[in-house]
Amino acid sequence: MKARVTEIAADVYRISAFNPDYGIQFNQFLVKDEAPFLMHTGLKKMFPIALEAVASVISPAKLRWIGYSHFEPDECGALNEWLQAAPQAQALASFVGTKVMLSDFAERPARPLADNETIDIGSKRLRFLSTPHVPHGWDSGLFFEESGGTLFCSDLFFHPGDPEPLTESDIVGRAKNTILHTLSGPMSNDLPYTQHTDPTIRRLADLKPRTLALMHGSSFQGDCQQALSELATVLKENLSN
Ligand SMILES: [Fe+2]
Ligand SMILES: [Fe+2]
Repeated sequence: MKARVTEIAADVYRISAFNPDYGIQFNQFLVKDEAPFLMHTGLKKMFPIALEAVASVISPAKLRWIGYSHFEPDECGALNEWLQAAPQAQALASFVGTKVMLSDFAERPARPLADNETIDIGSKRLRFLSTPHVPHGWDSGLFFEESGGTLFCSDLFFHPGDPEPLTESDIVGRAKNTILHTLSGPMSNDLPYTQHTDPTIRRLADLKPRTLALMHGSSFQGDCQQALSELATVLKENLSN
């Protein structure tokens, strides 16, 4: 297994490994700047593949920040491996993420981020958005790279298979199809629907991203505000009672 590296926006590299055991892609995103940022660590067992891919863009030892959305093996399972490979690197997570999960899990202290807190990484700036239970997990948050307008949206718009790195066609339809196929069965109930779901996703839409960087499936360029609004409607129609 080898990861495919694609620059989907200026200095934003999508690192994609299709894992046939799961039938899905695991996508990470590297933002190249003075203080490089990696979104998602990937699975612990896929760390060598991700390390090789990052090394094709920057020296992994130069990595400064490691962000993720919520505490799950694909989001942050290889955190300690990355902390070893990059001595200056520090994890970024929500207050809950650092206090409840990483305080025990991580080998070095993580930096907690408040909602809307920003991190300058050189010419680019990342904004942290606290999004509890969106896509899932008490500790959930998302990152928005403001200068290029890339929203790292974790499991939102999840679609399986090994599709193209970047699409301008309909990702809402792909996401809806997946949601409709997982309403029952052992993998159902992955997306909780709470009173925060709709306002949270509409808040993301108001950012007017130019690129949606998905953890599972193709990234999207086009009218991202509309895509997020449509996703909010799909979730309301199919997951709320
Ligand atoms: Fe997840
Ligand atoms: Fe995921």
